[in-house]
Amino acid sequence: MAGGRLQVAVLISGRGSNLQALIDACAKADFPAEIVRVISNEADAGGLDKAAEAGIPTAVVPHRDYPDRPAFEAELDKEIRAAGTELIALAGFMRLLTEGFVDAWRDRLINIHPSLLPAFKGLHTHERAIDAGVRFSGCTVHYVRPAMDEGPIIVQAAVPILADDDADSLGGRVLAQEHLIYPLALRLIGEGKVRVDGERAIVDEVTDQPTGATINPSPPKV
Ligand code: GRF
Repeated sequence: MAGGRLQVAVLISGRGSNLQALIDACAKADFPAEIVRVISNEADAGGLDKAAEAGIPTAVVPHRDYPDRPAFEAELDKEIRAAGTELIALAGFMRLLTEGFVDAWRDRLINIHPSLLPAFKGLHTHERAIDAGVRFSGCTVHYVRPAMDEGPIIVQAAVPILADDDADSLGGRVLAQEHLIYPLALRLIGEGKVRVDGERAIVDEVTDQPTGATINPSPPKV
């Protein structure tokens, strides 16, 4: 760790709003992590500009240039290691990673997913949550395991699904929470407060949050 700060590589494929949230968090003097490289598999990912504006070195590793996944990941791994990376944060990185890569970075590889895992793994989470009629959705930061969207859960945020929601309105409500919980998870890891025990992540954090239930739709006031 340089100056005691956890060295983080962020992998993206697109606009990079979660990347921006991590950049903003890391800009604070007392934040225990630092982004050392941003790597995209898409040359036109908007997140690359956000990284450049923040003065963070970037790299593009276009998956289409490689004959297979292991060859692509070997190049990715080279870029990641060259930056002195201790933790990889996937932030809208749209490639599935092989078991070999995931195992090599076991418990040092995290992801953010726009649902309350283990519900709604995969794509189109907001549409599927609305169609299923569930009353809450949300987002999850978790350690990555070889199976898609599985792994020890570090932080989750829940939001209500409202009667007139569509995928866009729900997605916006969830995204606002993503921008809070991804920096929170990174801070907890950077402070050494997260430990993985089997398939559970144990977070050693004092909390003054109320522990009461949140109900949606709200019960009538009596
Ligand atoms: C986010 O919804 C994230 O949860 C998912 O991909 C989206 C990326 O958005 N994995 P952005 O590029 O961070 O704006």
